[in-house]
Amino acid sequence: MRYDSITDAIGNTPLVRIDPAVHGLRHIDLYAKLELLNPFGSVKDRAAWHMARPHLESAAGPGGQVVELSSGNTAKALAVLAGMHGLTFKSVTNRMRVPEIKDLLLLLGAEIEELPGQSECLDPTAADDPLTLFHRTLSEPGSTYVHTDQYFNPRNTEAHLTGTGPEIVKDLDGRAPDWFIACVGTAGSSTGVARALREHQPGVRVVGLVAAKSDFIPGIRTIDEAHEVGLFDPGTYETIEAVGADDAIEGMLTLNRRCGILAGPTGGAAYFGAVRRLREIDAELTERQSAVFIVCDRVESYLSYVRRRRPDLFGRPRRRNSPADVPDAEIRIAPTVDVPAAQEWIATGAPLVVDLRSPFAYAALHIDPSVNIVDEIFEEILHGGLPFSRSRPVLLACPVGEKSARYAALLTRMGHPDVRSLAGGIVAWRDAGAPLVRD
Ligand SMILES: Cc1ncc(COP(=O)(O)O)c(C=O)c1O
Repeated sequence: MRYDSITDAIGNTPLVRIDPAVHGLRHIDLYAKLELLNPFGSVKDRAAWHMARPHLESAAGPGGQVVELSSGNTAKALAVLAGMHGLTFKSVTNRMRVPEIKDLLLLLGAEIEELPGQSECLDPTAADDPLTLFHRTLSEPGSTYVHTDQYFNPRNTEAHLTGTGPEIVKDLDGRAPDWFIACVGTAGSSTGVARALREHQPGVRVVGLVAAKSDFIPGIRTIDEAHEVGLFDPGTYETIEAVGADDAIEGMLTLNRRCGILAGPTGGAAYFGAVRRLREIDAELTERQSAVFIVCDRVESYLSYVRRRRPDLFGRPRRRNSPADVPDAEIRIAPTVDVPAAQEWIATGAPLVVDLRSPFAYAALHIDPSVNIVDEIFEEILHGGLPFSRSRPVLLACPVGEKSARYAALLTRMGHPDVRSLAGGIVAWRDAGAPLVRD
């Protein structure tokens, strides 16, 4: 194979059959579409190239910059593509949570700007809201920015409609698979491939996978976050199912250790979600079926992510007091307090109010008095034991009350007698018109 440009090597990735001895399905051939073998390392190479390509030449020159809201693979691909075309790249993100990816982006020359995420932004219509300001700057006349806008740009979906989907059909000898399973980030890959497959066989069954609520799997969204994405259409999927981070890592280990596929966590989530769904119907099948899932990227970028959740894999003891270890049943009965009761409590009982959101969201608006301990740091602190005196009540607040409920259950488990979660989070507080202050 000989190419004039590395961009010619994007796409045409292998479709590899998973050994039935590994997945255990008796009537279904399960295939992995190996998007991790794209040149910059992920499924996003296709979308990044397809979105940026029409604009790169005209934007080249002084001040020309590609800009995208991304903390991961799209940013990685765009950083490379921008550099190749004499442009700089800026990644705008609410939180760079995977250190290896942040380091790689810096290595590739990217500028990183952190802003509050949409779900943390308290007033998206406010004229001085950071995201609003960001979008306004991009669309100013004479702007030298190329904004690829992956969450809304139809060319993201089109990259998979014209590339990934048809490749799968070709590799299955002109037939679409009966099942297609994919994780949902921007929804570009799942939507584009689903459309292409259904052009061949309208009955293809499509399963969308999201991260379980209050769990974090880098690259994919929770169902609430998916609804914020312009390209996401729930009608694309027969079902949308949640996968937990631990199950994603288990799936990843199976692909890594037993299949020779060095997938990252979302590849693992796709494998886990596929086998879980297909097992339900496998026994009843009388004819053979086929299924395809996407392996989005590689494991190497996620070593610190995996180490935090599974230190045992690195020869270290499993860490105590992990929020991920709290069972759902305990989270459901975690003590909560609604906004009026919380206001009363703050006025009379002086609980310590801990705001678990990002520093940007906290700086924008917060309850007074409160302290800001971002959830990842709070998790670290709790591994060491209870950080508060048992005699001081604690009120935990997060964007919508999900993470805080998990932490309230964990602190209760750890023996704190009076810790409560703010029901509906800071968003409910704001909607109730309760006072917030700004730094
Ligand atoms: C690692 C990883 N997996 C899955 C996805 C989901 O792909 P899509 O954005 O096409 O929904 C992404 C998207 O960024 C990703 O980075």
